[in-house]
Amino acid sequence: MSDALLDVSDLRVHFPLRRATPFAPKRTVKAVDGVSFALAKGRTFGIVGESGSGKTTTALAVMRLTEITSGAVRLGDESLSALEGEALRRARRRVQMIFQDPYSSLNPRMRAGAIVAEPMELMQVGTETECRERAQELFAQVGLRSDQLQLFPHQFSGGQRQRIGIARALATKPELVVCDEPVSALDVAIQAQILNLLVKLQEEYGLAYLFISHDLGVVQYLCDEVAVMYLGRMVEQAPREALFGNPLHPYTWALLSAVPRVGRRRRDGAARLRLEGDPPSPISPPPGCRFSSRCPYAEARCKAEEPVLREVRPGHRVACHLVREDGTAPLRPATL
Ligand SMILES: Nc1ncnc2c1ncn2[C@@H]1O[C@H](COP(=O)(O)OP(=O)(O)OP(=O)(O)O)[C@@H](O)[C@H]1O
Ligand code: SF4
Ligand SMILES: [Mg+2]
Repeated sequence: MSDALLDVSDLRVHFPLRRATPFAPKRTVKAVDGVSFALAKGRTFGIVGESGSGKTTTALAVMRLTEITSGAVRLGDESLSALEGEALRRARRRVQMIFQDPYSSLNPRMRAGAIVAEPMELMQVGTETECRERAQELFAQVGLRSDQLQLFPHQFSGGQRQRIGIARALATKPELVVCDEPVSALDVAIQAQILNLLVKLQEEYGLAYLFISHDLGVVQYLCDEVAVMYLGRMVEQAPREALFGNPLHPYTWALLSAVPRVGRRRRDGAARLRLEGDPPSPISPPPGCRFSSRCPYAEARCKAEEPVLREVRPGHRVACHLVREDGTAPLRPATL
């Protein structure tokens, strides 16, 4: 057992699909299909990947907001995935979530102060007065004024609404905050403010973040460690410097090719590794490497044999047949 705050081990979340007829074969969406990672106290673990790769489902499973098919989620010394009833309710205080959409994630009929105090009331943390005082304190910490406690969500801007979401998430003094695309619905200028707020709060409270984003610039700014997901699995996982400085998986190369690199200029006319087509269906993933249908380097064995996620350098794991044991990737484009 590791000493990590969050330890996710071989997590699977499969959604059964309704059969068209009683005799039709049983089908499942393998949204998350064998994901493992660990996150230490006060650190940030990023998950990136295309739409549909299983990022949100991983987050919801960690939060126990979707049913776990198999695998384990540990939070400190508690087995979150095994808890039920009152024990699960108590453990839930330790984990909170910030959602993507600051418009739909707040109850429009509740005042901002009540929205922030609600988790404390639901989890019976403190008296009514204590909850009110703590809501006030949290409001100040996220940069809102106490006179705004009485306002309704529609009376705030998008960035302010996300601040309310953050204050609400912090209400029960969690150790882990799961952030699912917390800034992607906001204007770029506001994104930076919210990211800086998240960094400040992390330092103040020693929070750990599980941070999901499709924006590699944001992930590079915020995350200590990054995992790249493709079709329900992690294909590469590494400390930030290694993932951005020495990416090894062709899918990671494609994601990095698709964005302008922070602080680096691509050579004029240099070829990009383009990602063609859509990922295959998570209902029946292809045999062998799941990325083989889109990988420009795919060989015969890629279609036959699934590459395992193996550690090639300290903390740097990759699932690709072509990466050598010494952690070099012979075909890496010169443009990265
Ligand atoms: N309740 C559900 N029932 C059936 N399939 C589901 C369910 N929830 C998610 N899925 C499927 O699981 C896969 C992973 O979805 P998920 O929302 O986790 O992806 P994501 O990486 O968060 O994508 P995005 O970047 O678009 O938010 C998708 O194919 C999705 O359609
Ligand atoms: S295992 Fe083969 S198909 Fe998969 S990423 Fe590596 S080279 Fe491409
Ligand atoms: Mg999602």
